[in-house]
Amino acid sequence: MTPLIDPFARPISYLRVSVTDRCDFRCTYCMAEHMQFLPKKDLLTLEELDRLCSTFIRLGVRKLRITGGEPLVRRDIMTFFRGMSRHLDSGALQELTLTTNGSQLGRFADDLYSCGVRRVNVSLDTLDPAKFQKITRWGRLQQVLDGIEAAKRAGLKIKINTVALKDFNEDELFPLIDWCAAQRFDLTFIEVMPMGEMGEEVRLGQYWSLQDLRTRIEQRHALTDLAERTGGPARYVRVEETGQKIGFITPLSHNFCESCNRVRVTCTGELYMCLGQEDRADLRAPLRASVDDALLEQAIRAAIARKPKGHDFDYSRQGVKGQVSRHMSHTGG
Ligand code: GTP
Ligand code: 5AD
Ligand code: SF4
Repeated sequence: MTPLIDPFARPISYLRVSVTDRCDFRCTYCMAEHMQFLPKKDLLTLEELDRLCSTFIRLGVRKLRITGGEPLVRRDIMTFFRGMSRHLDSGALQELTLTTNGSQLGRFADDLYSCGVRRVNVSLDTLDPAKFQKITRWGRLQQVLDGIEAAKRAGLKIKINTVALKDFNEDELFPLIDWCAAQRFDLTFIEVMPMGEMGEEVRLGQYWSLQDLRTRIEQRHALTDLAERTGGPARYVRVEETGQKIGFITPLSHNFCESCNRVRVTCTGELYMCLGQEDRADLRAPLRASVDDALLEQAIRAAIARKPKGHDFDYSRQGVKGQVSRHMSHTGG
């Protein structure tokens, strides 16, 4: 089987699949307050999702991350995870994991572990209940903290994802670092990307460069760059005093597209070859056209053959460039 290699000689081994466009929160940088959610008939069924992922795995995907919306609000999603665990058992898949807002981990942490999930990334931008409610529009911080606790008890390794937001969580840099260190969680900071309909001024106002964030950490801690990678875009450092690992995802201040290894599929079966571009390929039609996977495979290969070099996001004094109008929740980050 010829593996998936894009026009820039990058092997595609990481698939991110969004299983729902719905979420129980509405993080302001990710979704609009009033979202028009998709009708059920447009969504890939769990069986279709299984066929799709299994085809990608046959074509060389080794890391599968389930996203949303919030993946754990999709009905019966554990059936899908259980199905995917067979690829871990056979050795075809190296990692099955998810990115979640944490709200449903209390219900699902044990099941996820029994499906072979060993690591979860939980989005958490603040440890202040009032600010949490503000950024998620109505979320309850304690529910997420309880979910994280349940995941920890279930034996899942936890990474906290924090979007760095100027004037929002700048003052929580050290509280977040210390809290993660005390709980032995890895922590990754993410630069906010211009996606969705939010105006240029708001975007510019909330952008906090991770170069600046890192400099601030270095005023208190000695950091050592680590060569190790998780297969995702983060670059990691170790905090010498505590051994804690901190990651930086820097699409704006330090583009990492050159080493891109990933593509995304939405819950309706659209394959986005790049997070920061509009081009996409419909995989639902070939999935539904035939029970044989040949058409699907052909569509995937044709799409990978036009994977772009990277995003065009840029924040400069003149404004925001490369903005993408779809919401981050559409492609699951
Ligand atoms: P690990 O397996 O822990 O490395 O996770 P990951 O970073 O691959 O996945 P996660 O869902 O935690 O990603 C965190 C965020 O990083 C995403 O929500 C995006 O905001 C950003 N991100 C992930 N992949 C890409 C990418 O390919 N391009 C860009 N520009 N941003 C990305
Ligand atoms: N820029 C950067 N990260 C974002 N996320 C959502 N929207 C954005 C954005 N505009 C992050 C979430 C979560 C992941 C799924 O994507 O915080 O960690
Ligand atoms: Fe890959 Fe596009 Fe992300 Fe760059 S922006 S790392 S090319 S998906």
